[in-house]
Amino acid sequence: MPAIVVVGAQWGDEGKGRVVDGLAPQAHVVARYNGGDNAGHTVVAEGHTLRLHLVPSAVLHPQVVCLIGGGVVVNPERLVEELDELAGLGVDVGPDRIKLAANAHIILPTHRALDGAREASRGKQALGTTRRGIGPTYADKAARVGLRAGMMADPEGFAEQVRTLVETHNRLLQNHFGLEPLAAEEIAARYHEYARRLKDHLVDGSALVAETLEAGKTLLCEGAQGTLLDIDHGTYPFVTSSSTVAGGALTGLGFGPREVARVIGVAKAYTTRVGAGPFPTELLDEIGQRIREVGGEYGTTTGRPRRCGWLDLTILRYAAQVNGLTELALTKLDVLTGIDPLRVAVAYEREGERTDRFPAEFGIEALARWQPVYEELPGWTEDIGHARRWEDLPPQAQDYVAFVEEAVGVPITLVGVGPDREQSVWLT
Ligand code: GDP
Ligand code: IMO
Ligand code: MG
Repeated sequence: MPAIVVVGAQWGDEGKGRVVDGLAPQAHVVARYNGGDNAGHTVVAEGHTLRLHLVPSAVLHPQVVCLIGGGVVVNPERLVEELDELAGLGVDVGPDRIKLAANAHIILPTHRALDGAREASRGKQALGTTRRGIGPTYADKAARVGLRAGMMADPEGFAEQVRTLVETHNRLLQNHFGLEPLAAEEIAARYHEYARRLKDHLVDGSALVAETLEAGKTLLCEGAQGTLLDIDHGTYPFVTSSSTVAGGALTGLGFGPREVARVIGVAKAYTTRVGAGPFPTELLDEIGQRIREVGGEYGTTTGRPRRCGWLDLTILRYAAQVNGLTELALTKLDVLTGIDPLRVAVAYEREGERTDRFPAEFGIEALARWQPVYEELPGWTEDIGHARRWEDLPPQAQDYVAFVEEAVGVPITLVGVGPDREQSVWLT
């Protein structure tokens, strides 16, 4: 089997981690293709709750090789921590299993400081980034001054390059932002250690992917963030700095579109967003509050409360369009239990004009003038956490899923009814 891409269909935190974990038994190599430790992917299985930031969400499956792909930006401190935590749980995180692509880029403490400084200088216009240095690291990559993971093969040379780039960043921090410089020597020494620790994990990521596909094995590609956070296709500038869409799997991992057999969009049965930016179906009332509490909608990475709202089908249609979705995984249906009636946005309206497309192309100010058009659907009160087959779902829950499938025009192949791996209704 060829490549399967798992991509967030909304603003992130849709449950990509649980979907990747659920599909991993079919896969040989599972690869993260974008983002960095701004991501927080949760896997609840085998009595563990893993909150993964860099390591692919298939790590509990011993037959899988996990690749951190070239499109990723890596904070080596965080990666070492994550490997240690997993090792502490008895998970094999040796260099034969966990691979780091040599063309991935390296996040420095000064990238993080610059992220914070840029956010502070935006004042009320702040993006609400995770302050993990994501934007500045991708900016250095695009400016062709970044550090690549492959440099860690020579820890001394790498440390020297780290020191030079930290000094460059320090000048910016001091002269432009009026901040204190960071200790370049000390950072270089720490990064020397990370390089010694990580260099055996380095690999030519594209070659590993090619070998996998040529051998007829399955490559599962794990996206971070979501479609509306994509640098090109999201709600710019309230986006992250990478290609979160399915195309990002091709550029991030280095293989061609003909290999892709399935593109699975992951969507919650409602909508959430962390950070600033437009969110037309946001609920600022007690229903939004209820969804936040019942759904545990607090950031996996930063602990920030997530903004919650009704499902927006125009967003899912947009995700189907820009990613070429072949299927949808609808997670967290259980969180809607007890809310009656349920509402879903089916279109937008402005001065008598109506569109069933998410008005992304009209820009953020224009988006604010469009009002979502809702349809009401009946809710259910039964606990659905034990459902494992379609027949186990109450008729109203079945109707909700069927309504989404029909409106988006993409088959739903998985329904999540709880965080645990087992709490899945597979419809394949
Ligand atoms: P990701 O970033 O897309 O991998 O998603 P996160 O892990 O950041 O957020 C999803 C949260 O929802 C995690 O806490 C998951 O354990 C949880 N979750 C995933 N699927 C379900 C589901 O079907 N029901 C419930 N109740 N929780 C779920
Ligand atoms: P996963 O992979 C939800 C959001 C931030 C902010 C914007 C830019 O777990 O779904 P950044 O630090 O990337 O420069 O922040 O993007 N953001 C996420 N929101 N889930 C994520 O990852 C996110 N990663 C970044 O909150 O609004
Ligand atoms: Mg997350």
